[in-house]
Amino acid sequence: MVEELKILTGYCGRYNYASVKEYVSLGGYQGLKKALAMKPEDVINEVIVSNLMGRGGAAYPTGEKWDMISRIDNDPKYIVCNADEGEPGTFKDKKLIYNDPMKIIEGMTIAAYAISSKKGYIYIRGEYREGYYRLKEAIRSAKAAGYLGVSILGTTLDFDIEVVSGAGAYVCGENSALCESIEGKSGRPRLKPPYIKNVGIYGQPTLVNNVETFSCIPYIIEKGGKNYASIGTESSAGTKLVSVSGNVKNPGVFEIPFGVTLREIVYGLAGGVEDGNVLKFVQMGGASGACFTDSDLDTPLDYKALRSKRISIGSGAIVVADQTNCAVDYALMTMEFFLHESCGKCTPCREGNAQLCRILKNLVLGTANEKQVRHLENISQLMMKASSCGLGKAAPTAVLTLYSNFKEEFLEHVEGYCRTGSCNISRKKAVV
Ligand SMILES: Cc1cc2nc3c(=O)[nH]c(=O)nc-3n(C[C@H](O)[C@H](O)[C@H](O)COP(=O)(O)O)c2cc1C
Ligand code: SF4
Repeated sequence: MVEELKILTGYCGRYNYASVKEYVSLGGYQGLKKALAMKPEDVINEVIVSNLMGRGGAAYPTGEKWDMISRIDNDPKYIVCNADEGEPGTFKDKKLIYNDPMKIIEGMTIAAYAISSKKGYIYIRGEYREGYYRLKEAIRSAKAAGYLGVSILGTTLDFDIEVVSGAGAYVCGENSALCESIEGKSGRPRLKPPYIKNVGIYGQPTLVNNVETFSCIPYIIEKGGKNYASIGTESSAGTKLVSVSGNVKNPGVFEIPFGVTLREIVYGLAGGVEDGNVLKFVQMGGASGACFTDSDLDTPLDYKALRSKRISIGSGAIVVADQTNCAVDYALMTMEFFLHESCGKCTPCREGNAQLCRILKNLVLGTANEKQVRHLENISQLMMKASSCGLGKAAPTAVLTLYSNFKEEFLEHVEGYCRTGSCNISRKKAVV
């Protein structure tokens, strides 16, 4: 039976979130103390050696990102902790924000020292109201204890953090839209280049990392990058938080070392589907992630291994569907989300989402024809190629992968039949 490895979540719930004293008594702030005695470039080197990949979805090497920004000779530089967590099925950052906010603050402060920044923001999902207040309180306590503010721990480092509440738009999690939103503008993605590492908040260099990414930093600095890299697999270092939900007996957030198989996560930690039910598909990485069947469940949680199967770990969300779920209805639900969340700035995303929704809606109403079903693929391909930001590029992934795995089921809907009996077509039939 696979077990969790809690190097990131080990303090969760074990201290009062606003108590620096309790955090320190557990071993907190050792990473920052060690970092402040090192040269900034050596801190960055430890992060490079750790092989930490960003946990926000794109899996960009964190050390490389810090290194590039540290070399930009333009002040001020800003740091943003992306706590927007808008990806459906994802609730792992919430665990860290609510239960171990000091670690996020510590990670950001180490980053500030490494890249030479005096100002940080935590951009938090609007719905995490309690988290917003907890972060503010934790920041106040850290400041009062000399771990934030002017001359941190008696050194020349000055760094402060402001908490900004998001207003409920999924696209604001995209790093350039997030910068716009922090500036007080409408949260729409910018055209790139320039990239936000050069031109971010108020036109200044900006480092954006996810909550989980920053939370990994204190351990990496305290124990060393080599130690961190020795956990997990060769291509995927450390542990990963996964949020498992859907048709499983034991949903929740689990911290596991990379290398554990998806089957061990779904059946071991999350307890598998209810007795008598059969797993139909799993969606990984949130609404923008691929849907795959039981045959891929023996793949290890590993960036490279999953990429070879065209699966992205994304935010670490794992949503499980059993035989009672209609693949077409699930695709429709996903596309309705993206239609609602598209900012409308570029045509392929704005129109593509609407067209995919229309076809899928016709399918569950029993009014679609085979030609329209074939268009699902053409429209999706075009969106992936021509959309301006990651939202439009990734939006059709669920439709494409569900269509590829359950083509027969899609075509049955053209005939007016749903094998699960759970979508609108069945309700319509029942009424007739
Ligand atoms: C539409 C969209 C939504 C995103 N939402 C989030 C989010 O909620 N949280 C997050 O950390 N990253 C999100 N990202 C990824 C960020 O743009 C960015 O890559 C990430 O915050 C960088 O941090 P990392 O390097 O630590 O992963 C989103 C990207 C896109 C395209
Ligand atoms: S892809 Fe969608 S969300 Fe992104 S800029 Fe274009 S319309 Fe906006």
